[in-house]
Amino acid sequence: MSDFSNVSPERCPVTALSDAFHLSNEQLEAVFRFARKDSPVTYLPDIDFWAVTRFDDIKTILGDKERFSSEITLMPLSPLAPEVQDLLKERGFSPRPTLSNNEREDHDRIRKNTQVAFSPVRNKKLEPYIRQLVNEAIDRFEPDKRADLVKQMVYELPALVLFKLLGIPEEDVQQIKMWADSRLILSFGRPSVEEQMVAAGHLADYWDYCLALVQQRIKSPKDDLPSDLLAIRNGDDSILTIEDINNVVFGLLLAGHETTTNMSGNAILSLLQHPESWDAIVADPDLIPNTVEECLRFRSSVVAWRRLAKVDVEIAGINISAGNRLLCFLPSANRDESHVNNGEEFDIYRKDARSHISFGFGRHFCLGAPLARFELLILLEELSKRLPGLRLANDQDLMPVEAVQFRGPKELWVEWD
Ligand code: HEM
Repeated sequence: MSDFSNVSPERCPVTALSDAFHLSNEQLEAVFRFARKDSPVTYLPDIDFWAVTRFDDIKTILGDKERFSSEITLMPLSPLAPEVQDLLKERGFSPRPTLSNNEREDHDRIRKNTQVAFSPVRNKKLEPYIRQLVNEAIDRFEPDKRADLVKQMVYELPALVLFKLLGIPEEDVQQIKMWADSRLILSFGRPSVEEQMVAAGHLADYWDYCLALVQQRIKSPKDDLPSDLLAIRNGDDSILTIEDINNVVFGLLLAGHETTTNMSGNAILSLLQHPESWDAIVADPDLIPNTVEECLRFRSSVVAWRRLAKVDVEIAGINISAGNRLLCFLPSANRDESHVNNGEEFDIYRKDARSHISFGFGRHFCLGAPLARFELLILLEELSKRLPGLRLANDQDLMPVEAVQFRGPKELWVEWD
């Protein structure tokens, strides 16, 4: 059943994806269904991207570095105004592509050596801290019998975990979250020039912060990721340069918490919209690992990821010339019936739940996937143990965050007895 009620009737419904954040989950999913069936590759004139919605096409695009480049993945969706570019230049803002938007050969060297620091041992070290954060949040709101789980828990949780990983002190968290929100708006939103100016100032502030952090760790190493990267480098530029490390630290800001905040909101929402699944994980926590995969498949937080066509290509019978930009809609791929049976159904017992593409595919596959999975696992374990009677509050408008490529509830009101 399609619901295109706020989509202009003169245009192909798929063009609504240009402003996907104005659509409810149900509308977005209806557009995806329509697109996969009738218009799997559609031009979006408002943002000058091609929308791709089928699983096989998206997997081919993400996995083919010869024909598709990832150099545009973090480029602002709306071009930066000249005065904003001047401001960034004046402020010495000069990160260079390092991982997700790096097409150079050195991507593989930087990734291989950075991956060492993302070891299961480092994740395991974070476990007590993650459990403590979840429990402290629950302690704070438990007596109220009602909470906004976004504001009161998952907005901060992945950021705090990431900051622990990066060795950033807790007192800087609010400041950095604000800088991160600005980066999200600048890269993936549709800001006015005034909003771009403010966001660009924040971006330059965070860049300075990252440079200072790495310098501090050079002087006095700690038990954190920048210190691990410096130890892996061991003074050898052929392993990692200081510039590489600055850029990795800077890049993790966006990669590591907006995604997980939104995914946590989506996961809880999906489970509470299917109370029988929530009751099942309360009764049997062994179901949680597969439930995490099904939540990732059913409603991923990264709605779309970009690639640039390096040569003329044909996708689903549509010719696209070199230089055109593609938006791969990952949650649409995850429900594609040609890839997964009953893709529209939320089923925590699904055998192939893990076959989703929410963390991308190929050379740029998400480096933080094990950490993200681990955080979601702990969140669901603690929440289902402490608040087994959790349910969605009725009186709420489930609107998503305002970014074209990311999706999660802005607020998520829940209740319990
Ligand atoms: C549920 C949460 C997350 C989702 C849905 C997600 C999704 C993605 C996606 C779709 C990509 C692009 C893959 C491609 O181009 O094929 C990506 C790349 C990346 N992610 Fe994540 N991510 C999540 C959490 C994290 C976390 C927690 C971290 C780090 C702490 C992280 C670090 C990265 C990095 C560094 C890359 C670039 C890897 C490369 O280009 O080699 N992500 N992620």
